[in-house]
Amino acid sequence: MEILDGKIASLSIKQQLKNQIDTLINNNHRPPHLAAVLVGTNGASETYVASKVKNCEAIGFRSTLIRLPDNIDEPALLNTIEKLNNDDEVDGILVQLPLPKQINEQHIISAIDPAKDVDGFHPVSVGKMVQGSPSFISATPYGIMLLLEHYKIETKGKQAVVIGRSNIVGRPMSILLSNNHPYGNCTVTLCHSHTKNLKELCQQADILVAALGKPQFVTADMVKEGAIVIDVGITRIEDATTKSGYRIKGDVAFDEVAPKTSYITPVPGGVGLMTIAGLLKNTMLAYSQRSGND
Ligand code: GUN
Repeated sequence: MEILDGKIASLSIKQQLKNQIDTLINNNHRPPHLAAVLVGTNGASETYVASKVKNCEAIGFRSTLIRLPDNIDEPALLNTIEKLNNDDEVDGILVQLPLPKQINEQHIISAIDPAKDVDGFHPVSVGKMVQGSPSFISATPYGIMLLLEHYKIETKGKQAVVIGRSNIVGRPMSILLSNNHPYGNCTVTLCHSHTKNLKELCQQADILVAALGKPQFVTADMVKEGAIVIDVGITRIEDATTKSGYRIKGDVAFDEVAPKTSYITPVPGGVGLMTIAGLLKNTMLAYSQRSGND
C-alpha cells in the first residue's frame, strides 16, 4: 500500500506556479488575482476560503476576500459578481458554496464571466469539460486528476466507481475518469443514494472515489484487494480533546481499508490539499488567457 500524498503533490504544483510568478514579476507583469466571495459565517467555509487566500499569497498571487452578510439578497450578490466581472484586474472569481437559502446558487454561478470561472462550475465550463475540450475544471476533481498524474497512476481500461453525484465533485469526477486523456479512459459507474447494489459495485472497482460526505462509509468489505481508493470526505466531527473542537473524518474507514489497497489518499493530507492546487492552476490559466502572459 502506498499513500497518495496530497502534501507532496500539491507542494510540487505550488512550487511550479511560484516559479512562473517569479518570472512574471521579474518581467514587470502584474500577478494573477483571485477574488473570493464569502457569504455569511459558516465555519467550514471560513476555513476553506482562508486557506485558499493564504495559498494564493504564499505563491505570489494577489487575492481579495469579499465578505458579505448572511442575509444578503440575490440582486445584491449579483451586483457584486457584476463588478468583479467588469474589473479588468480580477482574473478569477470564486463564490464559496453553500450559499444561504434565499439565494439560488445556479443564478450566481451562471452570472460569473466564464473567462473568470476558476471554480469550473459555470455551465460553459461544465459543457466544455464534458466534451473533453480545454476548460476550467471543478477544483476537487481537477486536484484528484493532478494527484493521479503526479503518482503516474495507470487508469486506462480500469473499472472506476464514484460514490456521490454532486455537481462539485462526483459528477465531474465520473466524466473526467471516462474522458479520453492520459489519466482517464476508465469504465465508470456513478453511484448515488438510489443505487441498489452499492457494495457489490464497489467490490468491482479498481479505482474507488468516495465523495458522498458520510464519515467512514467505505469499509474494508466494500473494497477489492489492490484497489486505488480516493477519499474526498472532509466531515467535521466534534472532539473536545482537539484545539479546534473538531476532528476531520473522511468517507473511508482508513485503518481497515488501507491494508487492502495499492494506493490510498489520507484525510487530512490528501484530496483537500489538491483542491487548492486545482484552484491555483485554474487561476493561473485564467490569468494567462486574459493577459496573454504565462
Ligand atoms: N464548497 C465546497 N467545495 C467548494 C469548491 O470547490 N468551491 C466553492 N466555491 N465552494 C465549495
